[in-house]
Amino acid sequence: MTRLFHDRISLAASQKKSSAILALDAPFGVADPLRLAEQMVSAVHENICAIKINFHLLLPLSGSEVAQVNRLAHSYGLQSIADIKLNDIENTNNVAVDHLAGSMGFDAVIANPFIGQAGLTSLVGKARSKGAGVIALVYMSNPGAAEGFGLAVALKKRRRLYRVFLERASRADADGIIVGATRPRIIKELVNEGQDMNIYSPGIGAQGGDLERAVRNGSDYLIIGRSIMDAKDPARAAREIKDRILKVGRSK
Ligand code: XMP
Repeated sequence: MTRLFHDRISLAASQKKSSAILALDAPFGVADPLRLAEQMVSAVHENICAIKINFHLLLPLSGSEVAQVNRLAHSYGLQSIADIKLNDIENTNNVAVDHLAGSMGFDAVIANPFIGQAGLTSLVGKARSKGAGVIALVYMSNPGAAEGFGLAVALKKRRRLYRVFLERASRADADGIIVGATRPRIIKELVNEGQDMNIYSPGIGAQGGDLERAVRNGSDYLIIGRSIMDAKDPARAAREIKDRILKVGRSK
């Protein structure tokens, strides 16, 4: 595992011809979340480049069971992202990364730049020392995101919080940023400025984001959960998403 995370996921995306990332969100109360996760990864691995694991699995599964899911993903050539939006003091973030990128086998973690420049830069350094990447929140996909990421703030000069987070992510040399697919104008704004970090966009389908518009505007990776997980035929749903992304890519 010598390459940086952003190179590894780019390689996986070109091998799979897909920039879709499956949010492996097992519904609450499902009888066997480990089995569901493994079945899902096996069903859709040809149509995605990575999985993203959130509290849906991190809470009900043991660390070694999560590691088992990550090993399965790796055996199919997929990357795996831990979505816990790290947002704590340096010591706590470091311990989290030691677990996530160590024995649990994650390739990247999602972090909240709210921790400040020094905290984020240190987190990127810590993750890299473990062979992992960091993806920084810039603008979330949920309807209330404007109440936080859209706030006008004044540090040195007055600007929106997401602009501060973007700058922090860039200075920290993060591997990528999150901008919700529900914010296509912000995706376009950042792409037009030539910022060079990969853009990861959740929010397609269940949250109302438009896949074609997000890709056209410049999202590099799409994070998709319920549209695949809840489909009658998840493999087919993932294949259709892959085809739609490819179609927009060809027409750009
Ligand atoms: P759905 O079912 O809406 O699942 O396709 C989306 C997945 O992504 C998570 N999510 C986010 N994660 N920044 C993140 O780091 C975001 O802005 C964001 N929006 C959604 C969500 O928790 C679920 O796992």
